[in-house]
Amino acid sequence: MEMSQLSSFAINTIEVLAYLFIFAVGMVFFWITCMYVIDKIQKKSTLRRNYPVLARFRYLFEHMGEFFRQYFFANDREEMPFNRAERSWAYRAAKNVDSTVAFGSSRDLKIPGTTYFVNCPFPKLTEDTEKPSEVTVGPYCDKPYTTASLFNISGMSYGAISIPAVRALSSGAKMAGIWMNTGEGGLSPYHLEGGADIVFQIGTAKFGVRKAEGGFDEAKLKDVASHEQVKMFEIKLSQGAKPGKGGILPGAKVTEEIANIRGIGVGEDAISPNRHPDIDSVSDLLDAIDYIRKTTGKPVGFKSVFGGYMWLEQMCDEITKRGIESAPDFITIDSADGGTGAAPMSLIDNMGIPLKESLPQVVDVLNKYNLRERVKVCASGKLINPSEVTWALCAGADFVNSARGFMFALGCIQALQCNKNTCPTGITTHDKKLQYGLVPKDKAIRVMQYAKNMHKEVEVMSHSCGVAQPRALKRHHARIVLPDGRSAGMDELYPETNQVKAA
Ligand SMILES: Cc1cc2nc3c(=O)[nH]c(=O)nc-3n(C[C@H](O)[C@H](O)[C@H](O)COP(=O)(O)O)c2cc1C
Ligand code: SF4
Repeated sequence: MEMSQLSSFAINTIEVLAYLFIFAVGMVFFWITCMYVIDKIQKKSTLRRNYPVLARFRYLFEHMGEFFRQYFFANDREEMPFNRAERSWAYRAAKNVDSTVAFGSSRDLKIPGTTYFVNCPFPKLTEDTEKPSEVTVGPYCDKPYTTASLFNISGMSYGAISIPAVRALSSGAKMAGIWMNTGEGGLSPYHLEGGADIVFQIGTAKFGVRKAEGGFDEAKLKDVASHEQVKMFEIKLSQGAKPGKGGILPGAKVTEEIANIRGIGVGEDAISPNRHPDIDSVSDLLDAIDYIRKTTGKPVGFKSVFGGYMWLEQMCDEITKRGIESAPDFITIDSADGGTGAAPMSLIDNMGIPLKESLPQVVDVLNKYNLRERVKVCASGKLINPSEVTWALCAGADFVNSARGFMFALGCIQALQCNKNTCPTGITTHDKKLQYGLVPKDKAIRVMQYAKNMHKEVEVMSHSCGVAQPRALKRHHARIVLPDGRSAGMDELYPETNQVKAA
């Protein structure tokens, strides 16, 4: 081949390669544009709606992480507050995809505090099993509340979470047949919209049922109770993440709508005091319960994280004097490691007793005073997987509530920015651009599926323990690993107290 032929061949080749390169770049550009449009208009994934194309890499890296993580990064059981294994179950349950795992457990079963369940050699045949039995709360009020639901949505106020999040939760709760707690921000139209049963929470500022100068506004209380959907009232004494601390929603976020719902002025800081000003003793608490119950005709309970049990014993003594009707209809026990939109680290980390300890102890105090049947027990705090819910039922809970489990169902990726208005999944932000990704109709299905799969798997676990339904679980069905690596029955560690006083 001559020199001129050679050089023209080289030029042609370079030309072809250049065209190919331009074509490839064009194709990539075309692909990005298509993906951008698809991601922007699809409704299933919040992240892809908010971060079109880019969010796809998250899924790729997440997938590849499964292969690389074991060499370089945190393993499945390491992250806090919720590790990847715990979150994955919630995501899969919410998406209703296969939740089975292969090969064997990746859980270290020797860590002190780990729970095993006592399988029965002759588990219940499927045809002999039953659905969870109904429980009636508030037998002495005009309108007791009866429900079979085991697993419900814990309090998160409209304000702490966004409108689309509240909408998705309320519709999902209705479809799943579970209740939703309003949190302390009052009752919004978005809570009512889905049609679910509602527990109205009365926070320390009494948002939604307060007079302008403070204290209860009886007309507003009656108005809230007049909604058929509002089934119960919960006085919030404290929440696990910030016992003894109030809260503030800055005036900038207090829109006309939020101001109306909460009963405060537009643009005014929404400040919750660190205690109900009118509740300073167990006697005050029982008076407040009595007042709300008589005014609304509906069951009334309270929510608290426990730091000790003496005051509960004093309350039970007082109930013994006043009569069994005076008791709270339910107690919600929150764990010291519960979640929040924002709180000081010292309170989040070190204040109050974790649920693992407080739940059995509170149940024992109620047993001791023969109040266990009268006062229903709700438990909350990191109970986002079936094994934890099953543990709580063994320990004596009638109901389990979860906030962060349902946030995972809504698509929360544990970015830990709930206090910054930059939540990438639109749950804890009022930024409309970020809320765009959270499509209530689609996420409501996830909420429903998460709750239904939770019920289903808790039922499977109880059948394996040899009982017909989850509410038949007892302490002897759970064993806890001790520091020396052996396990002991929960009934040995927390023997059920004998009654000493008749209420
Ligand atoms: C964003 C957010 C907002 C919350 N708002 C409230 C509230 O208004 N009232 C309340 O009693 N608890 C509130 N909580 C606490 C939860 O209701 C629950 O008690 C706690 O997070 C433990 O449950 P979990 O571990 O399933 O999240 C909030 C939690 C989160 C994460
Ligand atoms: S900021 Fe992060 S942790 Fe908080 S709700 Fe949004 S995704 Fe979840």
